Amino acid sequence: MSLPLDGKRALVTGAASGIGRATALELGRRGADMVLVDLTSCDAIADEITALGRKGVAVEADVGEEVHAHEAVQRSLADLGGLDILVNCAGIMRETRLLEMSVDEFDEIVRVNLRGTFLMGREAIAAMKRQGSGGRIVNIASELAYLGRAEYSAYCATKAAVLGLTRSWAREFAPDILVNSVAPGPVDTPMLGIDNMTAEWREKESDIPLGRIGRPEEIAGVIAFLAGPEATFVTGQTFSPNGGAVML
Ligand SMILES: NC(=O)c1ccc[n+]([C@@H]2O[C@H](COP(=O)([O-])OP(=O)(O)OC[C@H]3O[C@@H](n4cnc5c(N)ncnc54)[C@H](O)[C@@H]3O)[C@@H](O)[C@H]2O)c1
Repeated sequence: MSLPLDGKRALVTGAASGIGRATALELGRRGADMVLVDLTSCDAIADEITALGRKGVAVEADVGEEVHAHEAVQRSLADLGGLDILVNCAGIMRETRLLEMSVDEFDEIVRVNLRGTFLMGREAIAAMKRQGSGGRIVNIASELAYLGRAEYSAYCATKAAVLGLTRSWAREFAPDILVNSVAPGPVDTPMLGIDNMTAEWREKESDIPLGRIGRPEEIAGVIAFLAGPEATFVTGQTFSPNGGAVML
């Protein structure tokens, strides 16, 4: 039986955890081989991809470092024979009041979330252009790009900036490379750190029309759609799996 991503080569950043991990598994189930990039080891997820009958290559790298971004894409070319799909999922979130935020903390959030997306995108798009068979980029933003959030201003700013990168790249590289964003609402991952449902979170959930926060697999399905054969007329868009919390 042929699968929708048979023969495709994907690179997923932030693949060791949460949404990135769920995305890697979903792309693998749909037939893609994969490079799995994270600051921490992706060996376990690479084994799961291998168990699906696909290639899984684990690369420890910091997406905010130019040399690492270059090497990660080179691994896809060397070990998988090319690159068709990039999912920019690595990210960090910090809760800090503006008046207490140091320049170093602000710069670190920008370095990972924005510079990391830029570096990985630039490397991947260069490789896709050389390859000449098109490609897909999916950048992970956040619904907080629209809403803003007290004490998360640097994070929100980087996620709004990711939408700007997405729309600009979509125009710059059309019609060959399709570039889209996914802007999730709250998702149950280590980033959110909801080990037990506090009253504060229960209250937040009651504001979501679907009445709950999301699961990583529910975001992965949207990302896989944008990477797959059904999304050939979609570029420069932002899809927001958020339980209806933000309706645009
Ligand atoms: N969880 C949510 O509620 C939510 C909502 C909206 C958007 N997002 C976004 O989704 C993406 C994934 O978040 P998650 O919830 O799965 O978080 P997570 O913390 O579970 O996973 C993030 C991964 O990124 C990796 N990472 C961090 N800095 C890195 C770097 N410099 N280089 C390489 N890897 C790095 C981490 O090691 C981790 O494995 C993030 O971009 C996040 O901003 C999450």
